[in-house]
Amino acid sequence: MKPRVLQYGRLMPSLEKQLAEAFEHQRLVDQADPKAFLAAHGAQFAGIATAGFADAALMAACPNVKVISSFGVGVDKIDLAAAAARGIPVGNTPDVLNDCVADLALGLIIDVARGIGASERYLRRGEWPRAPYPLQRKVSGKRVGIVGLGRIGKAIARRAQAFDMELRYHNRRPVADATMVYAKSLTDLAQWADFLVVIVPGGASTRHLIDAEVLQALGPEGYLINVARGSVVDEPALVRALVERRIAGAALDVFEHEPQVPAELMALDNVVLVPHIGSATVETRAAMAQRVFDNLQSFFATGRVISQAA
Ligand code: NAP
Ligand code: 8YV
Repeated sequence: MKPRVLQYGRLMPSLEKQLAEAFEHQRLVDQADPKAFLAAHGAQFAGIATAGFADAALMAACPNVKVISSFGVGVDKIDLAAAAARGIPVGNTPDVLNDCVADLALGLIIDVARGIGASERYLRRGEWPRAPYPLQRKVSGKRVGIVGLGRIGKAIARRAQAFDMELRYHNRRPVADATMVYAKSLTDLAQWADFLVVIVPGGASTRHLIDAEVLQALGPEGYLINVARGSVVDEPALVRALVERRIAGAALDVFEHEPQVPAELMALDNVVLVPHIGSATVETRAAMAQRVFDNLQSFFATGRVISQAA
């Protein structure tokens, strides 16, 4: 008997095919009345494959689920406490996406400081013959403050070092093997940094960590880069700081109410906006999909997922 696996949300077609071959697999999105479907059939499932969401109600509706496997490293929309209370391990996809998210962070730093996107828009608008594009800001040798020196934060640091950038970081506690300076205070880090790069987990504990005070400390020469979660930044405070030119600019991969992006941000040329593409390459998404599958396979074979969210 193949284990029954419920799919919550949409996953990559290649992963859905793998799941359908290995398990008795059903997609909740195919059900006309998902609530009624769960009430009638929820107890039959042994596992859940999810695009990033699983709340206590979903777990209660599937009382025999023994494992959850999620697409992505961030588990801020999964109720880990409810899963732990039910003894359900939650698998996620750490490490395989570090390179791509870190690559994007560096790309965003360069874009927002040098104006790659903005100057291209200028060229396409036909403005180049009228006047050269205004001078922008140098990247190499500048100060980068990393908020969240974890797996991805360290990959960002390695790349920034190749640009001869000075590095400091802020976590809740210092990292034992880190050689760079630890900033106990986030505000101090913001004050010091030319680029403040945010890469902490989302969720209640980091909500609006980057608030008006931190942005004020970053100051009119400082740039904010967010590749973490939209919830980590107080978006209205960021909009105000940008509109009033109290920070130099921002580059954002994530937003508080995705896929909604505030119109005020769209109107600003010193803001780089991309639609949550940190891990969005063919290679990395394939590796993430494989881990979602492997976490389930491993659990049903050994009782343990390969990578378990803390
Ligand atoms: P990780 O290895 O767990 O690193 C997270 C770091 O954040 C840790 O060093 C942690 O250190 C620090 N941290 C946690 N809470 C903090 C707080 N309140 N204040 C300061 N520092 C705090 O995680 P990761 O694999 O690098 O991933 C980080 C996050 O990136 C994910 O959770 C996800 O939300 C996001 N992400 C985004 C994309 C994208 O597409 N944009 C892709 C992948 C991941 P301490 O525990 O010592 O504080
Ligand atoms: C995911 C992410 O691609 O891993 C994460 O936490 O944010 C991204 O890598 C995204 O959540 C899937 O849509």
